[in-house]
Amino acid sequence: MNIKLKLQEELKELIPPNLINLIPSSYSVIGNIAIVRFNSKIPTKYKKIIATKLCELENRVSTVIEQKDTISIFRKPIVKHLAGKKNMVTVHKEFNTLFEIDVSRITFSPGNKHERKRLINIVEDGETIVDMFACIGNLSLPTAKNHEGIKVFAIEKNQYTYNYLKRSIELNNLADRYFPILGDNRKKTPKNTANRVLMGFFDIDKVQLKKAIDAIKERGWIHLHDLIKRSEDRENKIRTLEEIRKEEEFTIEEVNTRTVKKFSPSKIHLCHDILIKK
Ligand SMILES: C[S@@+](CC[C@H](N)C(=O)[O-])C[C@H]1O[C@@H](n2cnc3c(N)ncnc32)[C@H](O)[C@@H]1O
Repeated sequence: MNIKLKLQEELKELIPPNLINLIPSSYSVIGNIAIVRFNSKIPTKYKKIIATKLCELENRVSTVIEQKDTISIFRKPIVKHLAGKKNMVTVHKEFNTLFEIDVSRITFSPGNKHERKRLINIVEDGETIVDMFACIGNLSLPTAKNHEGIKVFAIEKNQYTYNYLKRSIELNNLADRYFPILGDNRKKTPKNTANRVLMGFFDIDKVQLKKAIDAIKERGWIHLHDLIKRSEDRENKIRTLEEIRKEEEFTIEEVNTRTVKKFSPSKIHLCHDILIKK
């Protein structure tokens, strides 16, 4: 039986009939914390009843929180504790990689799991990767963990997030080849080193795009993430790159644009894979 049916069955005496159909049909689990998005029509009192039952039914879950949204350029989540232990820090395992996460302050999107897997698949042993928006290594840590000899330079601007990035590097024993850098990638991105540059953030500017090109050693891929309205032109970011090409010496050998996920009813998350030759 799926979790929604199970919850509906268990809670039919406790939740009014007009709300029982609004019980969420899915949730994500990070470490031992379940993160649930609720229909706004459900009052907090009932959210707590649902969360408490979820905690009882799911062995791997010891805390249930509600996620409302993410704010600011740091993509800080807005969450509320609903049931179980009042603990927001957990260790999450994915693709053989451990991430220490404070789910109340750091974003780790389950919807990007395919993208993390894809990177593991396309990267080759021995590559050097520059992760310009590292967070806790969401994209680059699994790649480093699952390949021999990969070197990563990972830049993160937020001190709090950076501390968790450092802990996750230690948990995975990668300190000898995964190098965290605290600061703004407009100033801290290394030059002429990378076979691959990760730009896992939506609000990027022209300076950051130039830094990504500078980071490439002779020839390499830039993975440029993008958030667009469904009706919007998918090529806008590529045009910015074409503008930079008038100012700097490089060629764009290949562009492949993929959909990573549906972000909301009106927006889609894309990734442009761009092969650059200097
Ligand atoms: C949405 S998270 C990216 C997570 C990961 N790259 C992914 O795609 O799953 C963006 C991260 O970039 C960091 N960030 C934003 N602007 C930055 C900048 N100018 N320099 C370095 N880090 C930055 C934020 O602090 C945040 O941790």
